[in-house]
Amino acid sequence: MSKIDTRWIREDEPLLDAALALRAGQVVAFPTETVYGLGADAMNEDAVRAIYSAKGRPSDNPLIVHIYPGFDIRRVVQSVPAKAQRLMDAFWPGPLTLILPRREDVPYVTTGGLETVGLRMPSHPKAMELLRLADVPVAAPSANRSGRPSPTTASHVWEDMQGRIYAIVDGGPCEVGLESTIIDVTGDVPLLLRPGGITLEMLRSVVGDVEVEPSVAKGLAISKEEHPRAPGMKYRHYAPKGALVLLKGSDGSKTRYLAEHLPDVHGKAGVLASSEWIAYMRRVMDLSAVHIEDLGSRTQPDIMARRLFGALRNFDENACTDIFGEALQEDGLFMAMMNRMRRAASGVILSVDPES
Ligand code: TXA
Ligand code: MG
Repeated sequence: MSKIDTRWIREDEPLLDAALALRAGQVVAFPTETVYGLGADAMNEDAVRAIYSAKGRPSDNPLIVHIYPGFDIRRVVQSVPAKAQRLMDAFWPGPLTLILPRREDVPYVTTGGLETVGLRMPSHPKAMELLRLADVPVAAPSANRSGRPSPTTASHVWEDMQGRIYAIVDGGPCEVGLESTIIDVTGDVPLLLRPGGITLEMLRSVVGDVEVEPSVAKGLAISKEEHPRAPGMKYRHYAPKGALVLLKGSDGSKTRYLAEHLPDVHGKAGVLASSEWIAYMRRVMDLSAVHIEDLGSRTQPDIMARRLFGALRNFDENACTDIFGEALQEDGLFMAMMNRMRRAASGVILSVDPES
């Protein structure tokens, strides 16, 4: 692929040029409240294909289509079930993607060959302005190169996409920091496909019963047997280059495990943890040789979520070879965090409490 002179559009610069580029079939990275997206006109097959070549992955995944408040969604979906409408009223604009029946004009390259389309209305002001100006539905996966954690700053996007796309719109750090919640509302009972900023508890408070796709809590979306030729792609999603293991147990047990295993680390050790666990460790052991990523207090899950992907990238910057992560209690926003952390750890969680 030939190198493009990628434009960085600063936060104080106007968006018209980026919007016109989208209309003309170019690929533009833009901020949302969840993560940065790699956008192109969802109705333009060539434009959508260009997203895939920029990302460096084959065009088999269905993409989320982004719209702005006031956009006539009949341009892209056939019908809106009653429960879907209630979810939209409650959570749009915001970090929720709804799977709906696709209108025929939405190309298969956008929907990954499916008869449904994932639709989302982001709340980030820059995203809304760009989408409104472009006035095309914009297909956008997360703006990372294949296999890297999703980008939550414009610099992350620059690292991955510079020279490969028309422009990057800087909108500052993302507020949520995890990709949107995805819910399939085409059946009788809504089905949670990916946990995110809109929690299961929030969804249930609006539509009652919501089922959870079994793979959500297992961390591995597919079994090795199902896709023997593409394990790297699916398993190493979000993963830092070093080996990540998640430790589940009391702060005391996790600390003992770490102390016992640090001597086995031949490269650089890293720790991914809450402020509480880090404070505990500092009281009882020397951490000077360890690279620490402090996600913040367990009492502030929103802050921990916001920092996760940046922290995973920082382990690479610091050449960490062995990373010890703190497994979190799986409810609220931690359900979404653990879903990503489990994938980053290839599903490996160690229970370190002594058996009672
Ligand atoms: O927060 C987000 O959703 C971000 C920002 C940019 O909006 N986008 C994002 O896109 O995370 P991506 O491509 O990284 O993830 C899209 C996910 C995929 O796992 C895909 O399988 C699912 O959405 N998806 C999209 N359309 C679907 C459909 N019709 N049926 C089932 N799953 C779908
Ligand atoms: Mg992604």
